[in-house]
This record gives sequence, C-alpha cells and structure tokens, in this order.
Amino acid sequence: MEFIYFNGRFIPESEAKISVKNKTFNYGLGAIEGIRGYWNEEQQDLYLFRLEDHYQRLLNSCKVLFINIPYTVKELCEITVELMKINKVRRDIYIRPIAFINLPSLRPDLFQTEYGLTIFIEETSYVGKPAVNAMISSWLRIESSTIPPTVKSIGGYLNSALAYSQAIAEGSDEAIFLTREGNISEASTNNLFMVKNGELLTPPLADNILEGITRDTIMEIAEKEFSLQVNEMNIPRAELYFASEIFFTGTAVEVLPVINVDKRSIGTGKIGPITTNLQRTYLQIVKGNNGQYTRWLTPVYG
Ligand SMILES: Cc1ncc(COP(=O)(O)O)c(C=O)c1O
Repeated sequence: MEFIYFNGRFIPESEAKISVKNKTFNYGLGAIEGIRGYWNEEQQDLYLFRLEDHYQRLLNSCKVLFINIPYTVKELCEITVELMKINKVRRDIYIRPIAFINLPSLRPDLFQTEYGLTIFIEETSYVGKPAVNAMISSWLRIESSTIPPTVKSIGGYLNSALAYSQAIAEGSDEAIFLTREGNISEASTNNLFMVKNGELLTPPLADNILEGITRDTIMEIAEKEFSLQVNEMNIPRAELYFASEIFFTGTAVEVLPVINVDKRSIGTGKIGPITTNLQRTYLQIVKGNNGQYTRWLTPVYG
C-alpha cells in the first residue's frame, strides 16, 4: 500500500519518520486499533466493519492514557474512508490506527503536549487452518490494577506476545490466559466463547478481557439469529475441557474454532454446529451479504 495517514497528511509510507528517541517507541505509551475492510466483488464496494465502534474504543483508550489526539470519531472515520480511496483499495484489508506521543523524550510520563496519529493498511493475515489447538499459558492476563486490559495499549501487547510465543514454542496455535483467581480470561489477541448445554458462555469484563467488537457482534447475532442464551460468567479452567464447542473471536481471526485445549479434545474434536452457524452468519454480515446488519458497515465507494 502506498499511502498512509500520518499526522494530518496522506504521505507515502517511506516518508513517515519517527525519532528513535520517540517516547512511544521507547516505552510503548500509545494506543492502537485493528479494523477490517471487506471487498464485495458483486457490489463493487469495500465495507469497513464497525468503524465507529473501533474509533470510539481508540478514543476511550486515549482517554485513559492522557493522549489527547484532536479528532472526533466522525473525523477518524472520514480520514479512514479517504485513505481507502487514495489507495484505491479493492480487496480485503486490515487497518491499523496508532495514537502515539510525538515527542523525543525519555521521561516515562503521559503528560505531553504533542500527539501523533497514523493509520496504515496491511494485508489481512489468515490463520491458515480451519480450526486450532490452544493451551493455557503460564503467563497470567494483565489486570486493571496493573495495565488495564480494556485499553488497547501498545505496552499491554507484551503480555499477549509472551503468551503467544510460549504457545508457539510449545507446539500449540494459541494461548489462553487465566486471571490471578484462575478463571479463563481470553486468548492472546482474541476473546473466547464456549458452548455448554446448548448455551454460550464467555468471560465477563471483570476477568480482564478486552471488550472485543467481534465478541459483541457474536453475542448479538447468537441471541437474535439463533435464539441462543449468552451468559457472561466466570469460567474456571477445567470447565473449558467440558465444553462441547469452543471458539475465539477477533477482528483478525473472525470466528475461529478451537478443537483442542491442553491436549484434550473439545467435544467431538471437530468443528461444532453452533460455531459453524455463527461463523457463517458473521462472514455474511461483514462482507455485506446480510441486509439486516448494514448499520455496522461503512461503504467506502457506495
Ligand atoms: C487482547 C485482545 N482481546 C480481544 C481482541 C478482539 O477484539 P476485537 O474483536 O475488537 O478485534 C483483541 C484484538 O483486538 C485483542 O488484542
């Protein structure tokens, strides 16, 4: 992709420069988002999924971090649509906004006068497998009293990276965090759902999860489209092994079936019917093929 948004201008990526003394680069003091765009060939349009919700979450993260980027949600959405047009995007993409402190300073405080915003486009990365194996990480999830997990802070991703790297090193596909109390929290960069007795269970915000936009989407369509009861509740570790189905949700992985946790098969060991239905409906919605949920889509060209 040629152009990125960088501090008020659309410029070629190679022209975007940040000092090695930049505070965000040194300490991870900044906030990010991850947004998807889906190209619909039939409709000849690019749909950005829940754009406003992602930018509202970015501004919420910035509030906690005292990063006063001077943009409204509406302006951020307009800039993003413009960026898509400038790059003539006509395929599925991943969008990464970063709010950062734009100062060369090594003092690790958050009170700054200069803030930066960049938005760039990446290729979507595919998991490459229809279903994954996961393991419980020995790294616990960050918590509100240390690094608030509801904030999509750059520094917080060290926690995710440690757990994910451990999982990969140990031959698994993904890591699941526990809380200090031993409850299931979430995966390294995804929320978690399990099916038990035909109901959908997912950890509550109090168990140190990021309040995922995909999670919220799945909760709504599970109830509306499939009349499934969704319960936000504490899930002790061993409960996971009894699940008939487990899946992860996230902008990047969408709905991703989990068929094995800690070397224990989940349910039949195959992708379950509830996961399949939710995944199918989710993909229809994000790609613009379900008229009921167009309020979640920002068309770039239409
Ligand atoms: C830690 C963590 N949990 C959950 C999610 C899923 O959130 P969303 O569905 O909003 O992409 C993400 C991805 O952004 C994440 O980084």
